[in-house]
Amino acid sequence: MESTRAPSVAMEAVLKPSCDLPKDMPKIRGYDFNQGVDLHAVLKSYLTTGFQASSLALAIQEINTMIEKRLEPVEEGEGNESETPKSGCTIFLGYTSNLISSGVRESIRYLAQHKMVDVIVTTAGGVEEDLIKCLAHTYLGDFSLPGKELRLRGINRIGNLVVPNDNYCKFEDWLMPILDQMLLEQNTEGTRWTPSKMIHRLGKEINNTDSVYYWAYKNNIPVFSPALTDGSLGDMIYFHSYKNPGLILDIVEDIRRLNSQAVFAKRTGMIILGGGLVKHHIANANLMRNGADYVVYVNTGQEFDGSDSGARPDEAVSWGKIRTDAKPVKVYADASLVFPLIVAETFAQHVDKLAAGKKTD
Ligand SMILES: NC(=O)c1ccc[n+]([C@@H]2O[C@H](COP(=O)([O-])OP(=O)(O)OC[C@H]3O[C@@H](n4cnc5c(N)ncnc54)[C@H](O)[C@@H]3O)[C@@H](O)[C@H]2O)c1
Repeated sequence: MESTRAPSVAMEAVLKPSCDLPKDMPKIRGYDFNQGVDLHAVLKSYLTTGFQASSLALAIQEINTMIEKRLEPVEEGEGNESETPKSGCTIFLGYTSNLISSGVRESIRYLAQHKMVDVIVTTAGGVEEDLIKCLAHTYLGDFSLPGKELRLRGINRIGNLVVPNDNYCKFEDWLMPILDQMLLEQNTEGTRWTPSKMIHRLGKEINNTDSVYYWAYKNNIPVFSPALTDGSLGDMIYFHSYKNPGLILDIVEDIRRLNSQAVFAKRTGMIILGGGLVKHHIANANLMRNGADYVVYVNTGQEFDGSDSGARPDEAVSWGKIRTDAKPVKVYADASLVFPLIVAETFAQHVDKLAAGKKTD
């Protein structure tokens, strides 16, 4: 006769009792569109939505903490060593070149314009693409546009963006007299150029309110780019070295200047969009102070290949680049999707307070 009871081994396996979960554990619940379309509320609901939505919400919280600490008054002698820090939290912002090619540039320009970050690190394309956009446009194309046809037409592709090659010719016309002048100042006034001093000068020369580096120049935000020659800027410096040789860029002075921003800070926050040089250069500077206090990474990198780009914040904890008691957040996402949303829920919410803080600087 067939048993009327399911096998006990299966019953026990399927109906295994649970232990109690902590009372304060967030319950998963997403946005209810019956409440109307409220994007601010949608983003708030991300915290309890799960997956990368929750990571994005945690990143927003972490950056809001950086801003809150940045606004705290600083007493004399509160920093490391002898220098009094400029604010309660020095915010380092890093981003890869392609983000300046994209419309994320406008979110970054907003942060520089309102002096909401203290130190910027980017790669060469992240500098020149901003300046070139003041001379000519970048357009929306398609990821599938064929390279051979584009080459024949003198069009360059960055993902689904396209940049006419003429833009780089205009850049050469704009840049060459500035390089001549820089070389003259080096030879006659003894100016020792570094990548950060050069970017400061280019921000002054471009004199255009659309530019990130115009605002970095105006607001005295240092921009570091130790591999400044790995892009069109390098091409121009190479051509210039034939026409008018002798220009020197010193990266030693810049590493001292960058590391000092971390060493003498009261606290530090790192917001790093993408990986590669920008991610490591900021983290390494923060090693000099035994780790950053607040951290947000936004990138698509994975850790299985051992790359620094893909390394989770915990790897940087092991090196002393992030404090052991920090609560770093990594958002696995294309920064072009999420960074404007992050700015909307963080810096843009505090624009009045941050602008008031700027006046007392
Ligand atoms: N527009 C350009 O991209 C451009 C232009 C000129 C020169 N270059 C040069 O190319 C070199 C390499 O560029 P790079 O170091 O700036 O970065 P990259 O483009 O090599 O990206 C580094 C890593 O960052 C992450 N990443 C990149 N884009 C992302 C995004 N949208 N969202 C999330 N994560 C992202 C990925 O993990 C990627 O592997 C640099 O020396 C740069 O100067 C780039």
